[in-house]
Amino acid sequence: MKYYSIANMNGSALIQGCMRMRNLDADQCDRMVMTAMENGINFFDHADIYGAGKSEELFGQVLKSHPGLRDKMIIQSKCAISKGMYDFSKDHILSSVDGSLRRLGVDYLDSLLLHRPDTLMDEEVAEAFDALQSSGKVKAFGVSNQSSHQMKLLQSLVSQPLLFNQLQLSLMHTGMIDAGMHVNMQETASLDHDGGILEHCRLHGVTIQAWSPVQYGFFSGTFLGNAQFPALNQKLEELAQRNEVTPGAIAIAWILRHPARMQVVLGTTNPQRIADYAKAADVTLSRREWYDLYKSAGNTLP
Ligand SMILES: NC(=O)c1ccc[n+]([C@@H]2O[C@H](COP(=O)([O-])OP(=O)(O)OC[C@H]3O[C@@H](n4cnc5c(N)ncnc54)[C@H](OP(=O)(O)O)[C@@H]3O)[C@@H](O)[C@H]2O)c1
Repeated sequence: MKYYSIANMNGSALIQGCMRMRNLDADQCDRMVMTAMENGINFFDHADIYGAGKSEELFGQVLKSHPGLRDKMIIQSKCAISKGMYDFSKDHILSSVDGSLRRLGVDYLDSLLLHRPDTLMDEEVAEAFDALQSSGKVKAFGVSNQSSHQMKLLQSLVSQPLLFNQLQLSLMHTGMIDAGMHVNMQETASLDHDGGILEHCRLHGVTIQAWSPVQYGFFSGTFLGNAQFPALNQKLEELAQRNEVTPGAIAIAWILRHPARMQVVLGTTNPQRIADYAKAADVTLSRREWYDLYKSAGNTLP
């Protein structure tokens, strides 16, 4: 496993996402968490809304049955999606964090992300972050699904550095990469959807956390082994054989190869797949292999 030094954290390049944990029983939750840890994944991603709090509760039960485990891991949660709106108000942020701490049964979050941008964001975010930092309830802060302009705006309001931006990225969801390679062209790939967020994050030392790394569309399903994407799967299979890993691990290695030094948020809850994906951190794709994969997913270069 690869680790990145981010503020005071030594976080694994792979993050175990906990969104789909809500569907598991207690034993399966235990196996998911312990398999991730055994394979070097020490970073766990939650949100207050996953399973309406159930994912955090189930995770809390795992922590309870393994004394000392909490201190070996980095726990991140997210807030601000609430009752059909986005809510960056001080009251909401503070009460959401209290709820996450209670469900997880922990004293602090290592990281808190604001889940989706609230256009009504204002100075209240700074008041909330200051209160959470001074009480010790949250150690580090970041955002999710924000453009570069929104990050600049929010960073001008808060004194804590925004360390993370969690964004959708996979071989079948490459908008932030396409725009940078189709500059000043007329086709759809030239559309800059996010204000050059990839370059912004690299310039400002913001770690991108890639969510839904093996999905296509917006939760449409996985592209792995999917007959709709024959060229991509053929290339993944070829590189998997060459590197003695699974095709899925190659899809993760494709994200890790980018010099932006991204983390990848895995969504699988299957222990065997977690172990297989962990091997992605040992694969370094060549520039040629990276571009071949990008193009086999249907992308073009001008
Ligand atoms: N910030 C945001 O807005 C946001 C949004 C969405 C998600 N997230 C975070 O990102 C994490 C990952 O998202 P995601 O779950 O959509 O990621 P994902 O890893 O792209 O998708 C996981 C899904 O694909 C299936 N899968 C994975 N590998 C497979 C394979 N080799 N063959 C067949 N099926 C396979 C999994 O099933 P099995 O469990 O059966 O393997 C699971 O249903 C979430 O847990 C959450 O923490 C953040």
